Amino acid sequence: MDLTRDEYPRSSKYDAEWLLDCDMGPHPLWLLEDLARDLDLQPGMRVLDLGSGKGATSVFLTKEYGVRVWAADLWVDPTEAAATFARQGVDVTALKAEAHALPFAREFFDAIVCIDAYEYFGTADGYLAYLTSFLKPGGQLGIATPAMTAEIRDLGYIPEHIKKVVGWEAIAWHTADWWRFHWEVTELVEVTSARLQESGWRDWLTWAQVSSERNGKPDASLEMLEADQGEYLTFALVTARKPG
Ligand SMILES: C[S@@+](CC[C@H](N)C(=O)[O-])C[C@H]1O[C@@H](n2cnc3c(N)ncnc32)[C@H](O)[C@@H]1O
Repeated sequence: MDLTRDEYPRSSKYDAEWLLDCDMGPHPLWLLEDLARDLDLQPGMRVLDLGSGKGATSVFLTKEYGVRVWAADLWVDPTEAAATFARQGVDVTALKAEAHALPFAREFFDAIVCIDAYEYFGTADGYLAYLTSFLKPGGQLGIATPAMTAEIRDLGYIPEHIKKVVGWEAIAWHTADWWRFHWEVTELVEVTSARLQESGWRDWLTWAQVSSERNGKPDASLEMLEADQGEYLTFALVTARKPG
């Protein structure tokens, strides 16, 4: 099982079996490594990993950028995530938190990152104002989220192969331009980058194939990705800075 890639040198250092044990969606470290190219993460910064899942991204943030991480997630028991952090020898604070009721002081974080989770809670118009209240002036926000090459609103329908697997929840999958406008128009942040990953569909497919092989049964998204052939599906990487 080879998950090493020249374009993801930092991620390539991590054990594929361990990553697959943490599996909750497409390769989280590839997404984060690419997203981090558009962020300025400096040692000692306080970073919220929102929707951190089983914790792979929090381990990566700590080890690769020397930042201090709070890993907040709703579905995964923080005890499980804390055990991962202990085994990996990283000092990360794990907590159960709902994205609309975060237990932090205002302006606490230098950066907030969110890998493959923002689509579950972040598309409502008011959410950016709430989330950025936890950022210091000048703080950064970065998300990697499943995306479409065309807006479903413009298509007028959810493509059948996507609807079959994701159902109505696909309406939270947007283009990078949608995200740029949605954030920029508020003037709450300056959008520093909003792009669709060129390799997004291919990376996602690779992960689904490897995960299927490892688990001995097709990954839930495999059929959808094979049918898509990169026509609609990829990931959006969006970063912004709070004025300050
Ligand atoms: C697809 S998983 C991704 C996990 C991890 N970031 C990764 O890439 O491996 C989505 C995560 O979003 C979290 N999530 C979904 N809705 C949430 C909410 N309302 N508040 C906090 N976390 C939420 C879930 O707990 C889940 O772990």
